[in-house]
Order: sequence, then C-alpha cells, then structure tokens
Amino acid sequence: MHKNIILIGFMGSGKTTFGKKLSKILNKKFIDTDLYIEEAENMKITEIFEKKGEDYFRQKETETANMISLKQDLVVATGGGIIKNPSNMEKLKENGIVVYLQSTPENILNNIGKDNSRPLLQGNNKLGKIKTLLEQRLPLYEKYADIKIDVSSKNISQNINAIINKLEEYNENLYN
Ligand code: S3P
Repeated sequence: MHKNIILIGFMGSGKTTFGKKLSKILNKKFIDTDLYIEEAENMKITEIFEKKGEDYFRQKETETANMISLKQDLVVATGGGIIKNPSNMEKLKENGIVVYLQSTPENILNNIGKDNSRPLLQGNNKLGKIKTLLEQRLPLYEKYADIKIDVSSKNISQNINAIINKLEEYNENLYN
C-alpha cells in the first residue's frame, strides 16, 4: 500500500504518539504537520499564533497538507484543526486513508495535563474549552474518517493493534 496514513483527531488524542509507533511498525516515514510548520517557520506554534495570528498558521497548515498530498507512504500526525478547511481534507484524502482517533474530553485533558503549548486551550477551565471545541469539531472528524478508533479506553499497544487490523481491511500490503 502506498497511500499515506493520515491521523486526525482532537488535540491530545495521541496522534503524534500513535503516528511514531505506527510508522516504525509499518516502515513508513513519519511526519507531524505541527512540527513541520514549526521547523519551516523556526518558531513554536504558540509564537506563530502570537506573532502572525491563527490565519497565518492555517495557511501554513494548508500548504503542508498540499505538500503531503503529493507524497506517498507517509504516516502523518495532523494538527487537531486541520479538518476546519475542507480543501485540506480533500487533498489529504486523494492519496491517504484517514484514521480518526476518538477520545473523551476527560482523556484529552489527562493527556494534555499542564502542557501549555496549545494556544486554543490556554487559560482557565481547560475541560470546558475542550468540551466546547470538541462538540464543534466532532461532525467534521466523523465526516472525513475512513477508519475510527476509540483510543480512550485501551492501552497504546491495544490501540495500535486495532488501527493495524482496520488498516489491513483496506489493503493486504500494509507493510513496506
Ligand atoms: C490545533 C491543534 C494543535 C496545533 C494548534 C491548533 C487545533 O495540534 O495545530 O495548536 O486547532 O486543534 P495538536 O492537535 O497536535 O495538538
């Protein structure tokens, strides 16, 4: 299978953690869109939001999605907001299987902990912010998902196995 594997889901649902592990198992290259943007801009995400604004970040995110759509055999951890722009998802789906990591607000909060690197969740009442934003975005994650995995109740290796099993239903030649 030469399609990209695109992980989508809310902040703190484990896209980067699962993506890195999956890429090793499947012997595919791993790319994290946030990290790619940070390296290209030589700034952290918080700094990009502060100095250039969210719109600028979203533009870079779209450019990154376009770049990825021209490649194959990648495992991609996307930023949680990539689903906001339909063209990002159209591009990524051209040659990618989209895996949605479903998680609960409580689990997300637990994973994010005291990490303040997400501009959209800064300040008080993180759980409230997570719930509101998740509610808005749920229909979009659902809409674009080819495969859905509930990652909130099992451990990492069980979840990885579940992802691989579902991917195998798509294509037998999953491993490079
Ligand atoms: C965002 C999610 C973040 C990052 C930025 C905006 C979002 O990525 O792209 O802070 O809008 O959900 P993670 O999902 O990797 O935290």
